[in-house]
Amino acid sequence: MAFKGFSTLSVHGGESRRKPENTLTIPIFQTATYPFSNMDERLAYNAGKISRLTYGRYGNPTQRAAEAKIAALEGGEAALLFASGMAAITTCFLTFLSRGDHVLFVDQCYWQTRAFATELLPRLGVKAGFVPLWAPGEVKKTLRDNTKVIFAEVPTNPHLHVPDLRELAAAARECGAKLIVDSTMATPINLRPLELGADVVVHSATKYLGGHNDLVAGAVVSDAETVEMIKATRDYLGGIPDPHGAYLLIRGIKTLAVRVRHQNRAALKIAQFLEERPEVRRVYYPGLPSHPHHRVAKGQLAGFGGVVSFELDATGEQTSRFLDALRIPYLASSFGGVESLVEQSALTSFCKFTPQERAELGIADSLVRLSVGLEDPEDLIADLSQALKEAFGP
Ligand SMILES: Cc1ncc(COP(=O)(O)O)c(C=O)c1O
Repeated sequence: MAFKGFSTLSVHGGESRRKPENTLTIPIFQTATYPFSNMDERLAYNAGKISRLTYGRYGNPTQRAAEAKIAALEGGEAALLFASGMAAITTCFLTFLSRGDHVLFVDQCYWQTRAFATELLPRLGVKAGFVPLWAPGEVKKTLRDNTKVIFAEVPTNPHLHVPDLRELAAAARECGAKLIVDSTMATPINLRPLELGADVVVHSATKYLGGHNDLVAGAVVSDAETVEMIKATRDYLGGIPDPHGAYLLIRGIKTLAVRVRHQNRAALKIAQFLEERPEVRRVYYPGLPSHPHHRVAKGQLAGFGGVVSFELDATGEQTSRFLDALRIPYLASSFGGVESLVEQSALTSFCKFTPQERAELGIADSLVRLSVGLEDPEDLIADLSQALKEAFGP
């Protein structure tokens, strides 16, 4: 039965009603291998007469249950689980790209994705270009005959730019490239990349899907044939999560819709509060009419997400004092969990970049990224307020 609501889908989507030993939740199948009862069974398997699991790197029932749930949530035919978001992303690229190919990346992707594009791909003879995919017309200008992949993040991190996926999908189709969308920040609750024309969706499940800051995992969703191709690459690269991680992910996903809807509402309130503060120079949140992509975001996103970025009207040192004065958010990398997290982007995610590179990417010393958790927004606003006072004086 197809479910209409995302809360029902989060709880029941992709699940079999009848589980082993009549358990309600899927058990953790903690095994590395799957013995055959005799050689006849092995030969039947070799001949393709029976289908079954054989070895942990090729699949595990708990992991498969998580995959079925993620596929159901994204509205894709199939999904694959990975040991991390980066394992998911790099395995996709190594599936689709060969020497001589060209790939277009959104000009503000996660810094390790960028490092993979600038450091590893050239060693394999693949050229990468970075484009502000949110700027209309920029993609068409940069596409080449050998462009095989367009890689977008929606929204981007940390400025929360919102590329128009319908436009990107049309451009990708025209040149025969695959459109891969990293939808980590948006989640399947806020964005439906496959319905908008993407070929493949990737997630760092470490973030909203897991949702509790307690696991590292990644996922890929696509049509069955494409997933089969990516699985062949995963089988030899080996980046799969352990069964316990898969179990925690399923448990986390059950509350995904409830969490994301709370975070959408809370982040919007916080963004509106920050926009009114004289100590704040600029707020980046696609739900605000002042955001340059507010119109595209409204047409494409069901909610504007739980991350708010903002620049203080302050030096880097004063910004650090503000962060130190916060009492609720933890000073930690990552986003999408139940605990609010905060970072000064220039000193964390972008600390390995030169000041000039940071300037080119628009990473000001006073840029703060706040991942809104499940705390009450009123408490977070009171905390932000007292920290601003502490850093700027009364
Ligand atoms: C948008 C985005 N994609 C991918 C990743 C990589 O995910 P993981 O840390 O699970 O490897 C991150 C990590 O922060 C991210 O922010």
